Amino acid sequence: MKVIVTKDYAEMSAAAAELVAKQINDKPDCVLGLATGSTPEGMYAELIKGYEAGKIDFAAVRSVNLDEYYPIKPDNDQSYRYFMNTKLFDHVNIDKANTNVPNGLAEDAAAEGARYDKIIADLGGIDLQILGIGQNGHIGFNEPDTELVAGTHLADLTEDTIKVNSRFFASVDEVPKQAFSMGIGSIFCARNIIIMASGANKHAAVAKMLEGNITTLCPATLLNLHPNVTLICDEAAYNG
Ligand code: GLP
Repeated sequence: MKVIVTKDYAEMSAAAAELVAKQINDKPDCVLGLATGSTPEGMYAELIKGYEAGKIDFAAVRSVNLDEYYPIKPDNDQSYRYFMNTKLFDHVNIDKANTNVPNGLAEDAAAEGARYDKIIADLGGIDLQILGIGQNGHIGFNEPDTELVAGTHLADLTEDTIKVNSRFFASVDEVPKQAFSMGIGSIFCARNIIIMASGANKHAAVAKMLEGNITTLCPATLLNLHPNVTLICDEAAYNG
């Protein structure tokens, strides 16, 4: 795993945006795997600036998002579809028909998982996947467990994750208890992966991942098995 340590969140965001911009410039119709949460917000803001400056063209870019709450309507302001539209897609020249987020209203979970993995396969895999990391080491919504699911699936959120994510909701009771998430296998369809982390509250998970051992009890450690992963984290996440 390649490691880039930045001074702070702003530098982390700029460094990640630079790699995404390079990917788009190298392959204008690339497939981006996108993440939500607080971590990549600054990176999306940098990408919008790059677009406005005429340095990045999203016209041919395709995207697949990591995860989506269940059940949730796409126009709910807590949905990850809403997040992507408002934080990036509405501000650049990406064709929304080329953007994919799991369907937070799908009634048949197995069919939705299969549909989503087929989308990834039909796109020819992911060129560059962006990941955040949960405080408990989750990636997407692959939560620590004795077994992990390979493909896109409906996941039960842990109490910890529900509590951490409740900061975005009016109350903890409003946080959905489940979410569709790419599985570890779906994520490993990516040729290159960037995992981002900011803040001392991510230090334990980052440190566990950097130990280099593999455990499903910290899903991010599986990234040590992937040949092209870059960790971009700030000093607080790196040093604690
Ligand atoms: C969330 C998301 C993940 C995200 C992680 C960290 O629950 N499912 O995709 O990477 O947890 O979130 P944040 O960036 O807000 O700390």
